[in-house]
Amino acid sequence: MKTLIIYSSVHGNTEKISKAMAEVMNAELKKVDDAIADDIKNYDLIGFGSGIYYGRHHKNLLKFAENVNGNGKKAFIFSTSSGKKLPIINNFDKALLKKLSKRGFTVIGNFNCRGKKAYYNTPGLIIRPFCGQKEEDRPNAEDIEKAKKFAENMKKLFSETTRLS
Ligand SMILES: Cc1cc2nc3c(=O)[nH]c(=O)nc-3n(C[C@H](O)[C@H](O)[C@H](O)COP(=O)(O)O)c2cc1C
Repeated sequence: MKTLIIYSSVHGNTEKISKAMAEVMNAELKKVDDAIADDIKNYDLIGFGSGIYYGRHHKNLLKFAENVNGNGKKAFIFSTSSGKKLPIINNFDKALLKKLSKRGFTVIGNFNCRGKKAYYNTPGLIIRPFCGQKEEDRPNAEDIEKAKKFAENMKKLFSETTRLS
């Protein structure tokens, strides 16, 4: 199984998660700004991750997802965010999931953890209520462990579902 992880990480939070997952999966890592649609051709499983910006994944990752052909490939998504995902009112995965399924990917997993607040240095009182505690340093060691477990599960799920189909 060859895995590629494509990510965007403005403040380095999602990059920590991407690296932890890549280590477990023996995956190739690529920043979205260095990636082209054809990059996914040689891989069986593709991970897409970024921080959450204004209620969705980073715009560059969303743009990339719009222009890449899944051709039935399996994918997983992940993110770091200051706020928690909430059904309906704060379901920040929705935009990326919709684009990936439209482009022919089957998304088999989804990971999120908190990401610390470079945010609070940014003007924008309106969005601050979504960001949680200022002092907390996230992702922390526990988040990294969870990301690694998730990556292990993705490997297992990939091989189980590929064997069955
Ligand atoms: C301009 C801006 C907008 C953000 N919007 C949200 C948001 O809508 N919801 C949320 O939970 N976190 C939001 N955040 C927090 C980021 O998702 C969080 O810090 C994330 O870990 C950043 O990931 P990165 O360093 O990998 O880019 C925002 C941060 C910034 C700077």
